[in-house]
Amino acid sequence: MSAPDLSIRLGPAEIKNPVMTASGTCGYGPEYGPYTDLSMLGAFTTKSVTLKPRKGNAPQRIVETPGGMLNAIGLANVGIDEFERVKAPEAAKIGTTIFANVAGHSIQEYVAVCERIDAIDAISGIELNVSCPNVSDGLTFGTDARLLAEVTAECRKVIKRGALIVKLSPNVTDITEMARAAIDGGADALSMINTLLGMKIDINKRRPVIANRTGGLSGPCIRPVAIHLVNKVYNNVAKTAGIPIVGMGGITNWQDAIEFFLAGATAVSVGTALFTHPDAPMRIIAGIEDFLRKNGVASVRDLVGALNE
Ligand SMILES: Cc1cc2nc3c(=O)[nH]c(=O)nc-3n(C[C@H](O)[C@H](O)[C@H](O)COP(=O)(O)O)c2cc1C
Repeated sequence: MSAPDLSIRLGPAEIKNPVMTASGTCGYGPEYGPYTDLSMLGAFTTKSVTLKPRKGNAPQRIVETPGGMLNAIGLANVGIDEFERVKAPEAAKIGTTIFANVAGHSIQEYVAVCERIDAIDAISGIELNVSCPNVSDGLTFGTDARLLAEVTAECRKVIKRGALIVKLSPNVTDITEMARAAIDGGADALSMINTLLGMKIDINKRRPVIANRTGGLSGPCIRPVAIHLVNKVYNNVAKTAGIPIVGMGGITNWQDAIEFFLAGATAVSVGTALFTHPDAPMRIIAGIEDFLRKNGVASVRDLVGALNE
């Protein structure tokens, strides 16, 4: 059997393999340069970019939890001016597909940042972060279907060249409603899930450990939730609409990635695992290829939603 086909497509973006990095867990690229060969990735996703630079929340912003971590970074980032001038050209040197993650406080802010990023040749698409749980108003867009459709549609108007991926929040009652709204607004793909809201208390100080009080839970502890939600969105919305899903949430090895494909994801992103194993995505790519070869599967696309019900 010839080498299995690992290529996938997210809207207009053709991607050499289905393994990506999750936004916010690997900066803008060069930070990981000394530790691993990012050019092997299917795609690299940057930290969220906003119109103005942001310092983010006060420390303590991160704490380890059983099977994961809580973070309340609060969208600390360099802002679009420095992203355009410094970070995007640096990310371009990675030598693979680059997606920029965009966040904002108003529809106008999302649109302004998307328009400028779509003009950067090195960026192949935009992931809209409508679901950050760590800023005071960050959840509004991701938890209100009407607003979500509107912000997606307005950004769609200015994203003429790249792919538009909308990142869904798990902190909602019915995620399929949000998936439909994003697709109605013109999303080429959905990514899911962002972190789950959580809290940890220092029992001696009787205070929340995270200065922001709450944070976003990520890592292996959220994987069963992510698998369930990917499968739900795939079965109820994405499959019929023909919209690919980028699955994420606690992926640490190739077996986890295969689980996401079977649940309905076309690609996967690795986030928290990078903190302990910066080379995890590379081992995952090799493991997927091996699994396909051993099982006589010609293309990774053949695994998408291929669950025996
Ligand atoms: C420290 C940290 C920072 C993050 N920052 C962002 C961000 O800026 N934008 C975003 O869309 N998601 C952000 N996320 C969420 C991740 O991209 C991902 O959706 C989530 O962590 C689940 O994947 P994981 O369990 O593999 O980490 C962040 C996650 C962590 C742990």
